[in-house]
Amino acid sequence: MERFAIAIDGPAGSGKSTAAKETAKRLGMVYVDTGAMYRTVALACIEAGVSTAEEAAVLSVLNSMDMRIEPREDGQRIFFDGKDVTAEIRTPEIGKAASEVAAYQKVRERLVEIQQGLARRQSVVMDGRDIGTVVLPDAELKIYLDAGVEERAKRRLGELREQGRAGELSEVMEKIRLRDEADKNRAHSPLCMAEDAVLLDSTGMSAEEVVQAILAEAEKAR
Ligand code: DC
Repeated sequence: MERFAIAIDGPAGSGKSTAAKETAKRLGMVYVDTGAMYRTVALACIEAGVSTAEEAAVLSVLNSMDMRIEPREDGQRIFFDGKDVTAEIRTPEIGKAASEVAAYQKVRERLVEIQQGLARRQSVVMDGRDIGTVVLPDAELKIYLDAGVEERAKRRLGELREQGRAGELSEVMEKIRLRDEADKNRAHSPLCMAEDAVLLDSTGMSAEEVVQAILAEAEKAR
């Protein structure tokens, strides 16, 4: 099979990772979760006691950390200094810190380089915020996955409950709004839809319906 790339962008909680992971599985492609990379940089800063507001210190953490990405059948695993941190990085606190480190151009340059390297070697379904616009502008298929803020907050609440944590819908909605605002308004590679992306609004759609819609678009793009 020729190399093929699917870029999936969209705001927090739009269902990108679930859809991207499942699409990759069904098409025999490699799933790359780029948010996990920003989250791992954030975790490294927290562990080093470095404030995400200190750009120079964040860069120094980034330059000295060892981050490894391993694609597996059941999704991507990510390692920080040899330790599998895939589950550990999935907290709202790390999500917020990730959004902060992601605002730094030098952090983005380094991670984009790794992401482009991964897509050169194999067919990927890559999800993030700037995949269709910056990382893989030549991707054969670009999807911009959106959903209403209330629906996204409900999904996040479900994830939190699965982790045995509590949360109020109004509070989660407010946090999502703030994160959207930060991701859409930052100076470098803000979240926005690529001109040639297919807009998919997943409000009211099941995960399977979203996957089917992406597979149908992939079929057309081949
Ligand atoms: O998708 P996620 O929630 O795991 O992403 C965490 C943060 O990382 C998100 O708020 C913005 C940032 N991010 C980014 O700026 N660019 C990407 N390609 C992926 C994530």
